[in-house]
Amino acid sequence: MVRKIAVMTGGGDAPGLNAVIRGVVKTAETYGWEVIGIKDGGEGLLHEDFVKLGSDEVHGIASIGGTILGTTNRGNPFSYPIERDGHVELVDRSGEAVDNLKKAGVDCLVAIGGDGGMNIAHRLSQLGLNVVGVPKTIDNDLMATDQTFGFDTAIQTATEALDRLTTTAEAHHRVMVVEVMGRDAGWIALHSGIAGQANAILIPEIPFGFGKIAEYVNERYAHGKSYSLVVVSEGARPLDGEPVYQEWNPAAGVRRLGGIGPKVGDEIVRKTGLETRVTVLGHVQRGGSPTSFDRVLATRYGVEAVHAIADGKFDHLVALRGTAIVPVPIAEAIRQLKHVDPEGELVCAARDLGICFGDVVSVPWPRQDEKARA
Ligand code: F6P
Repeated sequence: MVRKIAVMTGGGDAPGLNAVIRGVVKTAETYGWEVIGIKDGGEGLLHEDFVKLGSDEVHGIASIGGTILGTTNRGNPFSYPIERDGHVELVDRSGEAVDNLKKAGVDCLVAIGGDGGMNIAHRLSQLGLNVVGVPKTIDNDLMATDQTFGFDTAIQTATEALDRLTTTAEAHHRVMVVEVMGRDAGWIALHSGIAGQANAILIPEIPFGFGKIAEYVNERYAHGKSYSLVVVSEGARPLDGEPVYQEWNPAAGVRRLGGIGPKVGDEIVRKTGLETRVTVLGHVQRGGSPTSFDRVLATRYGVEAVHAIADGKFDHLVALRGTAIVPVPIAEAIRQLKHVDPEGELVCAARDLGICFGDVVSVPWPRQDEKARA
């Protein structure tokens, strides 16, 4: 019998988190359940930083970016960083997290998170806590769901930036390199690149050659094109090299990517001599008001998460499959990330448009081989 549920946002934020929270709270009220919010993800879980949430607290928040609860990517209770003798040690505090929720009378936790967050949710379930997950990430790289909320807003923001950069690139006859987010998967670069009419798109799934990109840019100029727009995922890597990292953050348990855009820009200048400018879009893609698509998707996730609790679908997350929101076991959902298929329809469509992925230079791409074979 459920009487009280908790909701928590963990990991990097994504536009739509507040719409999920609102959906959870308003739907829980229809069941007569109490809702508490956990402040700052795992930190609030361990420090019992809980707030009561009702209709008043969630009034009008679906249009607001960020999360009213706060979040962090440092609060993994299974691997919590503490400082001992001047260095950071990771300790397991998961038992405390479960006890804190039990003490607060929580019957089920709604955990809104990405792959890391869903891993934690599954492990908490294994400790006997009732958990329902909601998939979040602007990267859209969770296999369980056709789309995570936050992705649509991120590609909208990136596309708008590309449109703006195109006009100034054209005016100055420059090469514009734009680094977008996408740690393990190139969905943001691919979608915004196609929408923003980029000439080259570099993604983690297709290792690229600096020489190929330079050659392609040179060819464009040789064919009278006065500018080039190159979109680079932060996780893209050269054929003979590694992705570029800014720092290793042991507290978050991740290496922070960043810097491949400037590296691509430098190599283009070195190899072509063309005037080049680099823009790193960064967290602009995570901020701001969610698109109406993300508001609706996030709201549906929040509402369906509560229905999943009522149906006893614990250790499940709610996922978009086609047009329906369905419960999927979290264990199944976290098995693998959703990568761009290098041979898939979207990449092929982009190649048909003449977009270069840094692996081959000229277009039409494989059809040349087909012609040669004929
Ligand atoms: O996973 C979402 C994401 O936006 C990635 O694209 C990016 O690498 C990461 O989060 C950045 O995280 P942080 O907020 O810690 O810089």
